[in-house]
Amino acid sequence: MRTILLGPPGAGKGTQAETIVNEFSIPHISTGDIFRSNIKEGTTLGKKAKEYMDQGLLVPDELTIELVKDRLLQDDCKNGFLLDGFPRTIAQADALEDALKSMNQSLDCVINIVVSAELLIERAVGRRVCKDCGQTYHVKFNPSSKEGICDKCGGELLQRKDDTEETVSKRISVYQEQTEPLIEYYTNKGIIINIDGEKPIDEVSRDIVASLRSR
Ligand code: AP5
Ligand code: MG
Ligand code: ZN
Repeated sequence: MRTILLGPPGAGKGTQAETIVNEFSIPHISTGDIFRSNIKEGTTLGKKAKEYMDQGLLVPDELTIELVKDRLLQDDCKNGFLLDGFPRTIAQADALEDALKSMNQSLDCVINIVVSAELLIERAVGRRVCKDCGQTYHVKFNPSSKEGICDKCGGELLQRKDDTEETVSKRISVYQEQTEPLIEYYTNKGIIINIDGEKPIDEVSRDIVASLRSR
């Protein structure tokens, strides 16, 4: 299955990706995670990406598109993939379509997680991520059993640098301007699945898996 998770910052893309990739045995490709691991490792790409990410802006298409194209050529993507946070602009969506065409592939569907703007800030600001294994929690909606400590590996839970109220607001407006047009783009292609992302995490997971299975 070749699919995309679309949705605003804090909609639950990363959270739902975990269930989807387990259920369908496909790799999870999150451009945000790739950039963050480059920042952690101090690579040239990481240094460039950080300038934009810290401000809540999109990393330029020139840096993002090649990265994803290379990733899709890797062996584990042969039988499908789940893209999370890519594409985020019409130019990225066009580039993805061309890249897939050149591999004789096409997208099966696009999962659009719908959450109203009012809920997004609380979700992002309350998010905590394990510094060692990357597991995501939420102080209110999905807390770890011991505050500040990862249930899975005992690692320390940290807040993402771009999860301040100010930067999240900026990310939401960037999403509305540059990414939201993709909803119409994929609706016109007839491959969008709209999912109510305001329900509890496990209900959203159930809805997504059921829609993917029924296609
Ligand atoms: P990225 O890392 O992709 O961030 P984002 O799109 O802003 O989305 P988030 O990761 O913040 O949210 P999410 O939807 O994954 O939510 P989550 O599941 O964690 O991108 C970061 C930056 O990288 C961008 O700003 C940009 O600079 C750059 N970038 C990345 N891709 C790019 C691209 N293609 N082009 C250019 N630049 C790019 O959930 C959030 C919280 O809510 C968690 O705490 C979770 O526990 C909780 N939660 C989840 N679901 C529910 C629920 N149903 N009910 C209650 N709580 C919930
Ligand atoms: Mg995410
Ligand atoms: Zn952990």
